[in-house]
This record gives sequence, structure tokens and C-alpha cells, in this order.
Amino acid sequence: MCGIVGYIGQQDAYPIVIKGLKRLEYRGYDSAGVAINSGNNVNVYKRKGKVSDLEQFTLNKDISGCIGMGHTRWATHGIPNDVNAHPHISMNGKFVIIHNGIIENYAYLKKKMIARHYEFKSETDTEVLANLIEYIYMFGNVSAEVAVRLALTKVIGAYGLVVMCIDEPDKLIAARNSSPLVIGLGQKEYFIASDATPFVEYTDQVVYLDNQNVAIISRDGIQIKTIKNDIVNPDIKKIDIDINEIEKGGFNDYMLKEIYEQPKSITDTMRGRVFQNDNYISLGGLLDVMPRLMNARRVIIVGCGTSWHAGLVGEYLFEEYARVPVEVEYASEFRYRNPIINSEDVVIAISQSGETADTLAAIQLAKKCGACVIGICNVVGSTLSRETDAGVYTHAGPEIGVASTKAFTTQVTVLAMMALMIGKNKFNIKQEQYHELLSELISIPTKIEHTLQSASKIEEVARLYKDSSNFLYLGRGCYYPVALEGALKLKEISYIHAEGYPAAEMKHGPIALIDDKMPVVVIATKDKGYEKIVNNIQEVKARKGIVIAVVSEGDQTIASMADHVLEVPVFNTAIGAILTIIPLQLLSYYIAIFRGCNVDQPRNLAKSVTVE
Ligand code: F6R
Repeated sequence: MCGIVGYIGQQDAYPIVIKGLKRLEYRGYDSAGVAINSGNNVNVYKRKGKVSDLEQFTLNKDISGCIGMGHTRWATHGIPNDVNAHPHISMNGKFVIIHNGIIENYAYLKKKMIARHYEFKSETDTEVLANLIEYIYMFGNVSAEVAVRLALTKVIGAYGLVVMCIDEPDKLIAARNSSPLVIGLGQKEYFIASDATPFVEYTDQVVYLDNQNVAIISRDGIQIKTIKNDIVNPDIKKIDIDINEIEKGGFNDYMLKEIYEQPKSITDTMRGRVFQNDNYISLGGLLDVMPRLMNARRVIIVGCGTSWHAGLVGEYLFEEYARVPVEVEYASEFRYRNPIINSEDVVIAISQSGETADTLAAIQLAKKCGACVIGICNVVGSTLSRETDAGVYTHAGPEIGVASTKAFTTQVTVLAMMALMIGKNKFNIKQEQYHELLSELISIPTKIEHTLQSASKIEEVARLYKDSSNFLYLGRGCYYPVALEGALKLKEISYIHAEGYPAAEMKHGPIALIDDKMPVVVIATKDKGYEKIVNNIQEVKARKGIVIAVVSEGDQTIASMADHVLEVPVFNTAIGAILTIIPLQLLSYYIAIFRGCNVDQPRNLAKSVTVE
């Protein structure tokens, strides 16, 4: 949440900062702002709305200067407006600051600052921090760096921030606690950002700032310290992001591009890991923890939103093939309970971004209890990937559309690989069945390609129901989480209310909602629960509900009773569940487009939820 970009070097800062903010807009788009040091002055421009609104606002303004920073906001404290937009300037104009995160004790600090005759223009927690830094700087008679460090010792909460001091114009000071910041190292130029995408074309050398660390950055170099003033040696890493992966590549939206990328991203997830000829799966990132994984008394999967849904599919796969008890928990609930975890448990944390605050807190709790913690994550170098005992990257490539698509299918792919690998090692799966399962897994990308070819039919169905006010999604077994995910996709990008239910639960309540205006999306592929789901479809039809069924290709039985069928290729094992989400992603995409919604940046949302 909130995107941060900073630049110091020889080039004009403004275009670099603006381009970077556009790449980080998935993190929030309530307002945007920049501060550019022109040499004589720091010019601050900020605006409610998108980065493009800010660009309009800065036309004909002085945007010159080779040191600058910018911010795109997802509002926490204070409504989205020009005043609450970042950067914030301290009362006496000494400091300019951009911030991602939440200062939890801001009310207490604000009261103290008001007692010291500080006045505030905005409702934000960030302005409190700007004034606290300034107060320490002016009355403590210390350098900007010392003022920032001392102020941060008084702060409770999460921050990724960049600070400019008017009296020390040739440096930027960055700090991090729980909100990610990465520094890009160029030739006499440095970049700071919430993730590496803003500067991939300039450098592949980066330093990920650790919690409670401060970086003092000038053209001549960087120095990193803890907020308590201990020197930290920068750990320089090389990143590998292809610039084409973060462009739209001919699609109108990132979401559609990412839906279509799924055959490739799943292939990349399996590359070098699934060996069908030799009948085995190897996940290098888990080698060190294999004994603990094999002997786990229980697996607990934690995640939020779509990643939680992937975990629910994982529960079926693990129970089916690995034969180990599994619990799937919302990370946000898990962390605030007093869960019983011990060293024989394995906790699997799933997160596309690797920066979701609740999931990171759940990891900390699990580690404290002695569990082995494994991450399934997409963003290389993210906090989750650094704080887990072991892990598997999904290799889906950057996911920029706020609604998760390829992250979900690649997470499920990883869970399937893990379940099969454990199942085989435990001799739960016979050789022949294992071979069939691997063939199924390997066939998924081709089957998704095939499913994508029916996009125009799905578009037609979407056109018919774009004005519905409610949708129900039903599925049994491992299709229940697919129903949840389908409903979530529709809600978040089209703003239509949608609920996912286990199909058999319908008669315990939701059936009361069904009438001739209610589209009911049923996942009804030929699988274990097929006959039962056919009955559920009959129950909906008997109440005049509209049935949109996801079915196995050629299914005439359901075609004769449903209003619409969306076909997916035939599959024989639970692994095929991945396929059934594809028509649901496309359905919600087209409905949202017909309703004129911005699918990549749905209202009120942000991609990387770094606040609790
Ligand atoms: C839904 C969506 C969110 C995320 C959730 C967790 O489309 O994107 O529900 O799945 O915020 O994010 P990660 O996976 O980054 O931890």
C-alpha cells in the first residue's frame, strides 16, 4: 500500500519519479505527489487522483532538479484529497517526507507536538512524523540523519519513508520498518522504491533495506545504519526483472494480459521442478526442510484473500495426496488468536507480494512457536522470502493488475507439486497413479490455452448479466474455494455483490435468495461430486434461478438444464481444479469492462496490503 520512489543522481529526477510512480500505482491511487530539489528550492506538487492527474497539474511548473521523490497513496489516515496527499512538509519547512505504513502512536505524538505549539494542515500520521523529526532537528541541534533516527525510536508502527532536509539538500534519507524499501545502485546515482520495478531499466544491483534500518544516500554513496546508530554492511543482490514483463504488451489492461499469461506462468512455475520422464518432482527451495516437512504432524496454511483461497485448494491436494492433516487460516485471524503450534508443525505462508502485513505477522508468530515456516511467494527478495525457513517461488512474473489471477493458479501449482512430492516420498501414491498425476499437471498450460479460446462466448454471457446486482457461486470439494475466488474476482472489479458457497450448503440458507434475477455460477465438472452438483443445479432451476455452469467439455446433461455452459477440457484428478477458475476470471473481467470499471485499479483497493 502506497508506492514510494526516490532518485538522486545526474539525470532529471521528475521523469524517473513519475514513470516509477506509474509502475507502483497498483499499490494505491488515491493521490500522488512529488518533491523535486531544483538546487535553490524543493518544489512540492501533489494532487488527489492518479499519477496522470498529477502530471497535468505540474504542466508549466518548475520540475527541474536531479534529486526527487514521489508518492502514490492508499489512504489510511484522512480522506483522499490534495491536503492529505504526500509529500508532507514540516511546519517550519525544514523537512519534506513521503511515507508508506501506519504510525500507530501518532495520536499520542500529535498531542505532544501540539503542546509544543506545532500546527497541522493534514489529518495524516505522516505529518506528525515530519514535525517530530523537525522538532528534534531544530531543538536538539543535530544533523538530519540523527533527527530521523531519533524520531524513529519514538515511533510505534510500520514505515517505509524517504526524507529530504532543506538544509542538507544533497541527500535523501530512507528508512524502513515492516513496509518494504529497496535501493537501486547505479553509477553515481541511486534509486529508492517500494519494489524494484521503477528502476529496472537503470540497474539490476539492489539492496533491500531491513527493518529499523536507515539509509543515508548521496551521489557519492550510501551508508546504512540501524536506528540505534549501528553500521550495517549493505548486502548487494542482483535482480532479474525483464522490462517487457511490466508493460501491457498489447493488451488493454494488465488483468487481461495476466489472465492470458497463465499458460506461460504455470509452465515457468514447473520448469526444472517437474520431471515426467523420470517420474519425480524436485523443489530445490525445500531441500533443507524436507525431513521436517515429511514428518510434519500437521500443516497450517496461512494467507489472505486470493492467497487464502489457493491455500484452501491446497488443503484438498495435501489431504488427498500427502495424507497430512491441514488447517487453512486467514493470516489476519491466526495472528490475533492464541493458536496451538509446536515444532512438529509446518506453517506454509502464501503471498503473491510477500509483503502482506498480516501474513508476515503470522510467520513471526509461527517461528516463535518453533514451527518450520515455508513461504510460497511470487516477488523475489520480498520480506516473506527472506523471513521464512525455506520456500518456493511461483515464478509467475510481475502481477500488476490489482485482482490476482496468475498468482492464484501458480500458487495452486506449487501446492500441487508439494503435495505430490510428499505423497510420493511417503509411498501414498502408486507409481502409475503418480505418472498420471504428473501428466495432468504438465497438461494444465495447454488446457488453459484451450479454455482461453472460448473468451468470446464468456464475453457474451457477461454482457447478459452485467446489470445483475447479486451473484451466487457454488462448488463442492476443491471447487468450493474456486467458487470463493470467482466471487471475489467479481466483487472486487465490478462492484457486484457476490457470495461463494459450498454447493450443499445452499439449502441451509442461501437458497432463499434465488429468484429469476439471480445468476448462480456453478462449478460442475465431471468429478467425484458430479451427481450431487447436478442435483444442486436442479434445485436452483426449480426456483427459477439462472444457472451459468462451468462444465467438462461435451457435457450434454448439464447443457440441457443450465442457461449457459462454460466448457473446460476434461481432466481426471483434483489438480485439474486449477482450470475451472479461468472462465470465472474472464467472466468477472468482461462484466467489469461492460460496467465501465477500471479493472486494473478497482476502487478502494491496493495490491500490496502492508498495513494491518
Ligand atoms: C484479490 C487479491 C487480494 C490478495 C491479498 C493477499 O484479487 O489480490 O485478495 O490476494 O491481498 O495478497 P498477497 O498474496 O500479496 O499476500
